[in-house]
Amino acid sequence: MIYLDNAATTLHKPPQVGQAMLEALQTAGNPGRGAHEPTLHAARLVYGTREALAELFHAESPACIAFASNATQALNTAINGLIRPGDHVITTVCEHNSVLRPLYRLRQQGAELSFLGVDARGVLQCDQLETLLRPNTKAIVVTHASNVTGNRTDLARVSTFAKRHGLLFIVDAAQTAGVHSIDVQALGMDVLCFTGHKGLLGPQGTGGFYVRPGLRIAPLVVGGSGVHSFDENHPAEMPTALEAGTLNVPGIAGLGAGVRWILEQGVELLHARETALACLFYEQVRSLPDVTLYGDFAAQERAPIVSLNLAGEDSARVADILWEDYGICVRAGAHCAPLMHKVLGTVEQGVVRFSFSHTNTEQEVLQAAAAVRQLAQEE
Ligand code: ALA
Repeated sequence: MIYLDNAATTLHKPPQVGQAMLEALQTAGNPGRGAHEPTLHAARLVYGTREALAELFHAESPACIAFASNATQALNTAINGLIRPGDHVITTVCEHNSVLRPLYRLRQQGAELSFLGVDARGVLQCDQLETLLRPNTKAIVVTHASNVTGNRTDLARVSTFAKRHGLLFIVDAAQTAGVHSIDVQALGMDVLCFTGHKGLLGPQGTGGFYVRPGLRIAPLVVGGSGVHSFDENHPAEMPTALEAGTLNVPGIAGLGAGVRWILEQGVELLHARETALACLFYEQVRSLPDVTLYGDFAAQERAPIVSLNLAGEDSARVADILWEDYGICVRAGAHCAPLMHKVLGTVEQGVVRFSFSHTNTEQEVLQAAAAVRQLAQEE
């Protein structure tokens, strides 16, 4: 099997991840709920993962990191906790439904939305940002990289725009956390939402957010916190403010092991390896007849994603053949980013997405490219 669906979830994790999860399952009590050794051990495991994430994202302190079950939950919390009816929000046509659907629901409740568009290669037209401003603009919500094209957003430019106009700057890093260097302070982010099971090499069911010190997000969920039990209100201090109920300690321990492994290797090194593999695949398929590629492949910085179609062939059929005849795992169809598919003209056909990890080999990439070449010749 050749696994090239790493943008959906990374399959091959460092062995430390599973070991940390098993160890936590067998030894961790409930963090923050007592003073005996199992509960203290659980609290240390959770704090260790906060520390590792704070280091990875260059956060001010581990208390800026709160855990959620995935990027979708973190984005829902941030968007619903910061935007009110009557506010105007700028977002982009590159967004995943994890951003779009919470925003559409808020629009039904009286919020206003504007969408930054893209060019034919799916590159965001950041020079149009100023034209979208309104007197009631409150926030800008952007993905760091499109999960369809792999195009990366120029966050420095968006940040400058957000700061100039006093907007909240909320970033979806589902495709980039652990894959690209992210400095939340240098980029002036207010909120960064991440998932644990992709580039961060943790298990599914983990994720969370960085929240700038001093920014209060009204929580979606309130309840047990282990502190201030007689207060009718959920504690406002981070990270407890956004972490009601018992945490997923085995998952968070596994995520911590994944992030520590990344810190040891260096994000830049992993990024260079993934980029080299994606470029190798692109170079092999770019000139094939009847292959349409989606994205800006001249860009210096991209997520390790190559999406394509073979003539008018249904993308799901191509993905089925790749799996059944070649043992290659890819994602096809619509990728939960409806506006992007509309712009690319792939609403009906979808796209076949190849997404790479540092665990892939050049041999696997060449085999996948050979499979595409064979299918293209049969067109
Ligand atoms: N959002 C994930 C993807 O793009 C699941 O595949």
